[in-house]
Amino acid sequence: MTHLCKETLATVVNGQLPGPAIYVTEGDSVTVHVVNKSPHNITIHWHGVKQWLNCWADGVPMITQLPIQPNQNFTYRFNVIGQEGTLWWHAHVPFLRASLHGALIIRPRNGASSYPFPKPDREVPIIIADYWQLDLAQAARRMMHGFLYSFANASTINGKLGDIFNCSGVPEDNYVLDVVPGKTYLLRIINAALFAEFYLKIAGHKFTVVGADASYVSPYTTDVIAIAPGETVDALVVADAPPGRYYMVALPNQAPLPDQQTPEYTTRGIMQYRNSHSSADGPARLRSDHGVEEEEEEEDDGSFGDVPVAPEMPDIHDTFTSYYFHSNLTNLYKTMVPQHVDERLYIVLSMGSICKHGQSCWRGGGHNETILIATMNNVSFQHPTGKTPLLEAHYNHTGSVDVMQELPDRPPRPFNFTDHALITDGPKEMALEPSHKATVVRRFRYGAVVEMVFQSTALMQSDSNPMHLHGHNMILLAQGLGNFDAAKDVAKYNLVNPPVRNTILVPNLGWAAIRFVANNPGVWFIHCHFEFHLTMGMAAVFIVEDGPTMDTSLPPPPANFPTYCGHDDNLLS
Ligand code: C2O
Repeated sequence: MTHLCKETLATVVNGQLPGPAIYVTEGDSVTVHVVNKSPHNITIHWHGVKQWLNCWADGVPMITQLPIQPNQNFTYRFNVIGQEGTLWWHAHVPFLRASLHGALIIRPRNGASSYPFPKPDREVPIIIADYWQLDLAQAARRMMHGFLYSFANASTINGKLGDIFNCSGVPEDNYVLDVVPGKTYLLRIINAALFAEFYLKIAGHKFTVVGADASYVSPYTTDVIAIAPGETVDALVVADAPPGRYYMVALPNQAPLPDQQTPEYTTRGIMQYRNSHSSADGPARLRSDHGVEEEEEEEDDGSFGDVPVAPEMPDIHDTFTSYYFHSNLTNLYKTMVPQHVDERLYIVLSMGSICKHGQSCWRGGGHNETILIATMNNVSFQHPTGKTPLLEAHYNHTGSVDVMQELPDRPPRPFNFTDHALITDGPKEMALEPSHKATVVRRFRYGAVVEMVFQSTALMQSDSNPMHLHGHNMILLAQGLGNFDAAKDVAKYNLVNPPVRNTILVPNLGWAAIRFVANNPGVWFIHCHFEFHLTMGMAAVFIVEDGPTMDTSLPPPPANFPTYCGHDDNLLS
């Protein structure tokens, strides 16, 4: 594809970016044939699908399956039960999800009239993502070897770069949402970007948020949506403004980090009222070729005057608006919160350092000697390096599960959030703990109720931590800024209608407390959905043991599971 005056080779699904949206009805069995014609090892993960007793289809390389190697095929089969709303699918190999992703939309069994909100006239996926000219596989390799930042070239709404000017001063195409006055639109918003959390606004319009992560929330009216990588938000928008053209703006936000300039990649779509020249033939023209579309849009420009109305956006460094947005979501129904907790985990999200060669270069070592890694409880996740995925080893009770380490417990410990000097002035290594890499797991017996507190630290001050758990939803009991303090924070738990999510955005320099029931036997990845952190090791594996009966135990693997075909040693890139 060619954007910003440069032709870029990208790995995509069926020639499309974003990839095709998959529409299913709750209760459906879904079959997806993946034919890998790319030069990369690929898996596809069905983000947020619970995969009940079906961990084999979860699509995490070396955790649940061998990747689908170049020229191999694999068919994913899964059922979508007890979930309604917006989920998505994406490649689960480092960085490639930037171009391999799409919506997975689950409609109610009894049709749109059974939505617990006014029936929309139209439903529209809105995928916010980023556009990379860099070779993604190469960028991922550099990241894994300690090279720090690469930046995307632009942000996108449904694949359009939106108004960014290219080298010859020509703006890139906008995504255009055609609307009819008075009608209601259900926007199914997905953040598929590798790094940025986004603010989304439409000038002159309000959103009513009705769902998040395929779970209904109490209607919440707002003029701004905050969405972190991995999250989804369903929101109604009524076309009730004076007919015209309105910008739909997605702004990546990031907490301030004084010594670092983040490029500001705002992207703008347009919400456009159809009126006078009513060519009542539906929204088909939105999807046509560039050339044709641009000419048509020019005519529209004429009929509405010039520039669309622009919304006033939050500051790029404003994290409070996001904190406020996330704190305001509650479950539509009373949430079944398990009251008795079996296991408690306190998980510190941080950065650490390891030595490039040998062990002891941490203190006093030069910048070049240490590699920055991301950690959970000071361990950086190491993908299994053999040819046996963890799930297979676990299922067959074979060796390689034993070499894994137990995820260490870490007692709550206050972090010094005010000592910014450590981050901005001194050598970064001084602030880092020496840590190590290991394939860390935590085992849970079937049915255990687990409470986890995620604590973000001063070392994470500029990045967001959207923590995603596979195979289970998490109940978000409470969140706060600063250090978690059980003595006073437990009292803040919402045990009535807390939101149910698959991705928890841990507030910058704050904490989030969740519960989940470990009732889905298998080997499940838990990780930060911010791609740098994931690639640098902010991840762990939760093993949920089989239950007492056949129908609480993991069945055997599906037929034609990928096998190692022996021409690639590093199956992860
Ligand atoms: Cu959407 Cu493990 O990721």
